[in-house]
Amino acid sequence: MSSPTKIFRVSRRGFLVRTALIAGGMASGLRGSGAQTATPGGAPALRVLFATDAHLMVDDALRSEQGLAACLEAVRELRPEPDFILFGGDLTHETPELDFPSAERLLDRFLTLWRAHTDLPTFFAFGNHDLAGTKNRALDREDPRFGKGLFRSRLGLERLSYAFEKGGWRFIIVDDVTPEPDGSYIGAFGAQELSFLRSELEAHPQAPTVICTHIPPVSVLPSLSITGAVEVVGTRLETPASLVLANARELHRVLVETKADVKLVLAGHLHHLEEIQVDGVRYLTGGAICGNWWKGSQNGCPEGFTVLDLYPDGTARAEYRSYNWKAAG
Ligand SMILES: [Fe+2]
Repeated sequence: MSSPTKIFRVSRRGFLVRTALIAGGMASGLRGSGAQTATPGGAPALRVLFATDAHLMVDDALRSEQGLAACLEAVRELRPEPDFILFGGDLTHETPELDFPSAERLLDRFLTLWRAHTDLPTFFAFGNHDLAGTKNRALDREDPRFGKGLFRSRLGLERLSYAFEKGGWRFIIVDDVTPEPDGSYIGAFGAQELSFLRSELEAHPQAPTVICTHIPPVSVLPSLSITGAVEVVGTRLETPASLVLANARELHRVLVETKADVKLVLAGHLHHLEEIQVDGVRYLTGGAICGNWWKGSQNGCPEGFTVLDLYPDGTARAEYRSYNWKAAG
């Protein structure tokens, strides 16, 4: 079994860069071994921007509107230009607490700003802060805008889990936000999402694939108290299911059983850059556009986004870039 080639770079001048190169066709328990290359061959098939957690705030609180605009201006300056944007959820911030008209206005404000500052096609995943009215007890829970309804209708998405192909790569967006009756939520794939994921992977087992969710399947950030915290209960460590997926084991089971060529599992939610590699699959938590909810960097991780260069041989290069935002307070 050969080992991957990795390159990590960190620069504090202007932006933080963390780059990882992993050879395509890596031998793992999930798929057969393939050709090993230390560097990607030729030009990337695709450049994809992974941006997540904008948390646009009501009445431009903490200058979040200017921050979002500054982020998209930095995206506009990228060369080569990205082919499209994957957005990891949490477009807006206060949506679960707002009434429906206010939630509509906030989401519409986000979409107006987005369209004003980028022409790139954008594929959105759903975040827990995109839930409408779930923390507002005065609202009618039967209203079609309640919960995920507002997001679905405003973004014109029939389903929040969907898939597409670009440049020989497969992209699967999977909704993993599971609302609870008391207005809270956990991270979990429902039976429908797991079935959808399995059928997509079974249909295209050879294609290099990127999965995008909001809540990370796995993370060490709670263990390190960088985002959230684990709790010691007797001899056990407990991680809140609002931070990471309650049933990541089901995801892993699907990956093993389908033997699909999943290269990356992208997530947002924790607002801190992290990468974990298991059996050739890279689980990448992509920082946040808003950093520490528009109050600066999140424990040292600045406001930013991830640039992914995806190569025809299945290699992926990931680079996190800050856009040098100066927080309001
Ligand atoms: Fe978030």
